[in-house]
Amino acid sequence: MQTKLQEKFKALFGKEGRVFASAGRINLIGEHTDYNGGYVFPGAIDKGIMTVILPNGTSKVRLFSMDYNESTEFGLEEADAPSQAWARYVFGVCRETIKRGGKVEGFDAVFAGDVPLGAGLSSSAALESTFAFALNELFGNGIDKFELAKIGQSTEHNYCGVKCGIMDQFASVFGKAGSLIRLNCKTLEYKYFPFKPEGYKVVLIDSCVKHELASSAYNKRRESCERAAAAIRKNHPDVEFLSDAKRVWLDEVRAEIPEEDFLRAEYVIGEVQRVLDVCDALERGDYETVGELMYQTHFGLSRLYEVSCEELDFLNKLARKMDVTGSRVMGGGFGGCTINLVKEELYDAFIKAAKEQFAAKFGHEPKIYNVVISDGAREICR
Ligand code: GLA
Repeated sequence: MQTKLQEKFKALFGKEGRVFASAGRINLIGEHTDYNGGYVFPGAIDKGIMTVILPNGTSKVRLFSMDYNESTEFGLEEADAPSQAWARYVFGVCRETIKRGGKVEGFDAVFAGDVPLGAGLSSSAALESTFAFALNELFGNGIDKFELAKIGQSTEHNYCGVKCGIMDQFASVFGKAGSLIRLNCKTLEYKYFPFKPEGYKVVLIDSCVKHELASSAYNKRRESCERAAAAIRKNHPDVEFLSDAKRVWLDEVRAEIPEEDFLRAEYVIGEVQRVLDVCDALERGDYETVGELMYQTHFGLSRLYEVSCEELDFLNKLARKMDVTGSRVMGGGFGGCTINLVKEELYDAFIKAAKEQFAAKFGHEPKIYNVVISDGAREICR
């Protein structure tokens, strides 16, 4: 990918550029907890976005997307937003950098990626982090890494219509090869956990289902959680986020809030604790417990949070039937992947069965991705 990008950059702009990259992510456990001030446990993966980029001495950005085989040009004022959805991510990153007092001038860039789109692996966070990191280096802004992640998150909020939490951009910026990162999304304290489960493989099974209305459904889940937290806060004023609440405090307000909000909140409160339990189990090398907690998360995401779908429930059930150690829908949901913790000796049989049985039921094979935990945002060469 790097050579292709460099050649294209040279052909379009007649120069050599600097090369930056960032990564998509997995999340072992801790789903929909980030915007509730809870814990998440992601890691960056070996699939990401790469760009060749250089300032061009003008006030215009000239972008070429290899994947869409499309180019665009835009200015850096608020009114200059490009029409292509893919370019709005880069425009958003420029604007959010400027809003934070960073310098951004015109630049040329060619970029491409290998994060499967719509699979729940955060291709958009990879794109945002790549450009947030690159612009920070190119223009010498000295913005710290957390703020770079927040530039990506604000881009989603203000330019792409998704009121996401910080997990994806955090993982993409802070990712480190071989380690998962537990982040407390309220205090922003984090800790790296080396993750090499001896005798197990971590594999993603992509249902290839993509739901069009995913971002509005996602925003609705967030509103439910905020309503539940607000109701609890009336009795317990220290509750800033839903993750601060005890389960019994939620029961106190059950009659006051819509049942749907109650179920969403029930899931979140359980999930925050599961992240801590998984980290403890990992430190003991107790993968059976890790896996069991993953199944509990799937149940919650499917029945309480209602972000699974028939295809993902099917894959989860199959994993359970075949004694796979852990399995659950990963990421925002509404399609995408399951993440599976599988004993090595079971791996081949499980993948074969997943492909065959899924295809027999849904008419197409799922895609299989083996997970390699890798580095996040970085400069590749200058
Ligand atoms: C998406 C969002 C994240 C997070 C997950 C669910 O990936 O971008 O902020 O909320 O969904 O855990």
